[in-house]
Amino acid sequence: MKRYDFDTIIERRGTISSKWDDMAPLFGTNDLLPLWVADMDFAAPPEIVDALRKRVDHGVFGYTHRFAPYRQAVVGWLLRRHGWAVDTEWLRHTPGVVPALAMAIMAFTQPGDGVLIQPPVYHPFSAVIRGRGRRIVENPLVFRDGRFEMDFDDLEKKLDDSSVKLVFLCSPHNPCGRVWTRKELERFAAICVARDVVVVSDEIHGDIIYSGNRHIPLASLSGAIRDRTITAIAPSKTFNIAGLSTAVAVIPSRRLRDNYTSVLDFLHLDGGNTFGTIALEVAYNKGDQWLDELIEYLEGNVRFVEEFLARRLPAVTLVKPEGTYVPLLDCRALGLGGQELLRRLVERGRVALNGGHWFGTAGEGFMRLNIATPRKLLEDGMERIVAALSEEGGR
Ligand SMILES: Cc1ncc(COP(=O)(O)O)c(C=O)c1O
Repeated sequence: MKRYDFDTIIERRGTISSKWDDMAPLFGTNDLLPLWVADMDFAAPPEIVDALRKRVDHGVFGYTHRFAPYRQAVVGWLLRRHGWAVDTEWLRHTPGVVPALAMAIMAFTQPGDGVLIQPPVYHPFSAVIRGRGRRIVENPLVFRDGRFEMDFDDLEKKLDDSSVKLVFLCSPHNPCGRVWTRKELERFAAICVARDVVVVSDEIHGDIIYSGNRHIPLASLSGAIRDRTITAIAPSKTFNIAGLSTAVAVIPSRRLRDNYTSVLDFLHLDGGNTFGTIALEVAYNKGDQWLDELIEYLEGNVRFVEEFLARRLPAVTLVKPEGTYVPLLDCRALGLGGQELLRRLVERGRVALNGGHWFGTAGEGFMRLNIATPRKLLEDGMERIVAALSEEGGR
């Protein structure tokens, strides 16, 4: 029996929400329906809310630490949901997955070294590389038969350059919604092992996987890839608690772990956040059914978008996501550039989506749509997209 409600529309304006209250810097106005930044319009599981409420009632919010049940919750979750047995010793803190990428750059590269990414990819990947004076090396995905794939020949070539020390994998991949298969990951891993690079595997979207697909943690594939991988996970996307700034770096290799820890300690970031710590522990211990029901709801939203576009705007198609709630719309048949697509969506449709071109090479002509919202709001959003992009335009 279903226990949770994803249909209720919760007013988020005026809650210091980045998604709802901070559109103006990017879109020029806040008067839009936001289907952009990757958080959800659903309340977090009531189990989490209850635990936080109880802690708030205590009223004292001094320094905190990550207690044993927290570590056990992470271990239990990875084993139960992803079949990956990890040791509590391997876990290190990070206030977010992006900070873990940044710390890895500081720990494992020198100025001028190359860091490889696979665009179109979550844009902070390139920002953190550039921010520390490292060099971005691109191994663009290729769009073939309606889905994005890795270009392994190009990956080999790019990694033959021995100044490339670090690789950022996005698994599942944001924004294209690919859940990399075992075969793909094995080939990727073999290339990285042969070239002796360190890999950060950003698996923040690893819990939101649609029927017929399976998320495989890169580091679970073999001892060789495990010993050179830092896996970043978080309950933030999965349970809609990104504002609590709590994530985990899983680092099996002692050498990599020590290097990472030295940067974490240098930045003095290990303290953590009381509410994030509580929320993670409850999410990973009690969140299974909520997540299963969420995924079912999101699958309904995927079907809704597909059918809606086929009926009302056939020139635009959904790049079918295998996971994540931020799939791409293929708008290339409209023949408009990314800027013009954005302008029409904002000015004609009053709706905010991420431009595919924000994610770099190969993203041009695509738009990223956040489908993690009650069906009624998604319907409103799709009507706005049609108004913005159909021949007639205007509304
Ligand atoms: C692939 C990916 N990594 C990291 C993040 C953000 O992580 P955090 O907020 O934990 O830094 C996002 C958010 O959208 C993401 O899509």
